[in-house]
Amino acid sequence: MNVLIAYASKHGATEEIAERIGSTLTAEGFAATVRAVADVDDVSHFDAVVLGSAAYASHWMHEANAFARRHHTSLAQRPVWLFASGPLGEEKVDKQGRDVREHSEPREFEKFADLLGVRGDHVFFGKWDPDSEPVGLMEKVMDHLPGHPREALPAGDFRDWDEVEAWAHGIAEELRAG
Ligand SMILES: Cc1cc2nc3c(=O)[nH]c(=O)nc-3n(C[C@H](O)[C@H](O)[C@H](O)COP(=O)(O)O)c2cc1C
Repeated sequence: MNVLIAYASKHGATEEIAERIGSTLTAEGFAATVRAVADVDDVSHFDAVVLGSAAYASHWMHEANAFARRHHTSLAQRPVWLFASGPLGEEKVDKQGRDVREHSEPREFEKFADLLGVRGDHVFFGKWDPDSEPVGLMEKVMDHLPGHPREALPAGDFRDWDEVEAWAHGIAEELRAG
């Protein structure tokens, strides 16, 4: 069974999560292809798709959004899972008592749930290096704002690889069940 893991990533953290999902599915016996959404023209030769993006300003990146819209008919015809990489820090509950993961769900989870008939979705904690080169206009502008908002974000790698692998094993189980 051919599974596509398509991702959008600005600084590489989401790409590495996609790769780990891919290697976990490969170890489970699936033919997994990990690609940036920009490099995928056609999803029709895949039996299932896992689509993920970094979250910025509560949204998936534009290209992941565009990918889901462009391929929505084909995606709706095969099992689809969505993920995001986003929240930063060690806290699982924020100061307002909200579950950080739930509160960080990008708007696209709800937007595409019915359109694509999504089987499952997941928010993974992300990674942030404040010394990274700004990518895109928004980050360049941010570096000139008072308070330097990029530097104010919690720095570190908060990705939980056991959680990534467990989620991918769950997908493998569902695919095997048919
Ligand atoms: C300017 C900026 C805005 C961000 N906004 C959000 C957000 O709204 N929600 C969220 O969960 N994470 C947010 N993050 C954290 C990123 O999603 C996180 O660092 C992610 O792992 C980056 O993935 P990438 O390296 O694949 O681009 C933001 C990070 C930056 C730098």
